[in-house]
Amino acid sequence: MRRKLAAGNWKMNGTSAALSELDALAAKHPSPSVDVLICPPATLLHRAAERTQGTGVAVGGQDCHAAPSGAHTGDTSAEMLKDAGATAVILGHSERREDHGEQNEDVRAKANAVMEAGLQAIICVGESLEQREAANTLDIIGGQMSGSIPDRSTGENLIVAYEPIWAIGTGKVPTLDEIGEVHDFIRARLERRFGEGVGRSVRLLYGGSVKPSNAAEIFGVSNVDGALVGGASLKAADFSGIIDALESV
Ligand code: 13P
Repeated sequence: MRRKLAAGNWKMNGTSAALSELDALAAKHPSPSVDVLICPPATLLHRAAERTQGTGVAVGGQDCHAAPSGAHTGDTSAEMLKDAGATAVILGHSERREDHGEQNEDVRAKANAVMEAGLQAIICVGESLEQREAANTLDIIGGQMSGSIPDRSTGENLIVAYEPIWAIGTGKVPTLDEIGEVHDFIRARLERRFGEGVGRSVRLLYGGSVKPSNAAEIFGVSNVDGALVGGASLKAADFSGIIDALESV
């Protein structure tokens, strides 16, 4: 059985005042029946980890460097994120692929570093609108998976997030059939590459304009094990509705 996961990606949002949202979230969900993860900006990670210690809320990073340490000004290693209290790291988000030119091989190297540190890698894949309209979605996702996912992946250290780029922050969501088609495809590819046991144990998240109002129907789609949520994870009241929906699947 795959444990459900509600993951929040705060992106470049939040200063000290935002930490109170974590208190509210933990208070509303004292013992959640699903995994709950918040990935705040790196500046808040350590305090977020201290603040959520002993609650059902875990914290994670949004990116890391592939090396454990060294002369890389401005970067943060997986070891450092772990030391700050992270249990997981989002990698290969489309905003990093776009803003920082991250390629599949960069994501794979970072994922190896995250797994080496004993953390979970949440590897993001997803097509652009042009790619979907050209009926290239599955080819794109397949290529991103082959290039970005390390050979050492297991159900414990890998989570795959399907985030169609055109659905991120736009209020547009694929149809349930479209989500199901991609998630079934990702599952089948994982089973082919890693064998049925590992392939079936990796959790698959959907991300892109998930809100309390559409979460339940998305969570009903086959091979959707939870969500990676941007905007609606910033406020405890919104994210709480998504956790509720996941708990009642
Ligand atoms: P939104 O939920 O704001 O569309 O963002 C999704 C996302 O990019 C999560 O990583």
